[in-house]
Amino acid sequence: MNVLIADKFEAHGQEALRQAGFDVTCDPHLGGYDLVDAIKGIEPDVLVVRSTRVTSDMLHAGAKLKLVIRAGSGFDTIDVAAATDRCIRVCNCPGKNSVAVAELTMGLMIALDRRIVDETDDLRRGVWNKKEYSKARGLMGRTLGIVGLGRIGFEVAVRARAFGMRLIYSDVIEHPEMERELGLSRVTMERLLEEADFLTLHVPGGSDTHHMIGRRELERMKPTAFVINCSRGGVVDEAALADAVRNGMIAGAALDVFEIEPAATEAAFSDPIRAVPHVYGTHHVGASTDQAQEAVADEVVKIIRTFKETGKFLNCVNTDDAVMA
Ligand code: MLT
Repeated sequence: MNVLIADKFEAHGQEALRQAGFDVTCDPHLGGYDLVDAIKGIEPDVLVVRSTRVTSDMLHAGAKLKLVIRAGSGFDTIDVAAATDRCIRVCNCPGKNSVAVAELTMGLMIALDRRIVDETDDLRRGVWNKKEYSKARGLMGRTLGIVGLGRIGFEVAVRARAFGMRLIYSDVIEHPEMERELGLSRVTMERLLEEADFLTLHVPGGSDTHHMIGRRELERMKPTAFVINCSRGGVVDEAALADAVRNGMIAGAALDVFEIEPAATEAAFSDPIRAVPHVYGTHHVGASTDQAQEAVADEVVKIIRTFKETGKFLNCVNTDDAVMA
């Protein structure tokens, strides 16, 4: 069975696949037309991607392609509808990088409160300004509003609780057990916006959540509040966020994800929000810890082996058999 990995992928995962008898081709530079050609040439049964986009053209190029695996949790970079039309299954690796994303969220929260990025910037320029930077409000007793209490939202809540924060959440589903375990309260989105000192987003991308935080939502927030987005870029209306921070409607924001992200891992980045004061940014690296990437690689191997040995698709996101028949 041929496996094509069109992204960076842990060496131990590649090795495990080879030892299990798979023909593995790994080329992290493949993408776009190159990937279409590679799929035509290699004729993989399985395609594995992380950041690389999987388009309808690529799916049509794969005469033998049966399975596409997203080595991560979200699958908005894959044309799932086109895969379904071609009877190709799409599987993901949910929960394997939740702790990593939660850790980055906590880091951004403290960075915003203590203005660590600006402080470092000043020090690098030879400026000492204890007066300006002695104004943090602190996390203890502050309200954290979690939008989306899935695996990542839960891990954020666990960590924020250890910091003595008050925890509220908004979700389409009620989570009574987590509420009891972590002292969380489920509130309406309106109340969450009004009460949060920090608002953190942990919802999937896509049309249901597109611009769920826009001008109207930001207007409801406290002028001392911060927004953190480690979910998907489109969830926040960046233009509205930039205005809100510039006009002092909120105190600042930290983004790990952006509305338009480069497809390559190294590229120029000209999104205007990157230059707005009090907006901190990271390079969509929430999931990028050794532990998380090793766990994701193990899960990818498990999905491929299970498919070969049993014909079953673990974590399949397009399971509608009527459609796939
Ligand atoms: C995810 O969907 O799990 C993350 O975006 C993964 C990643 O950055 O690879």
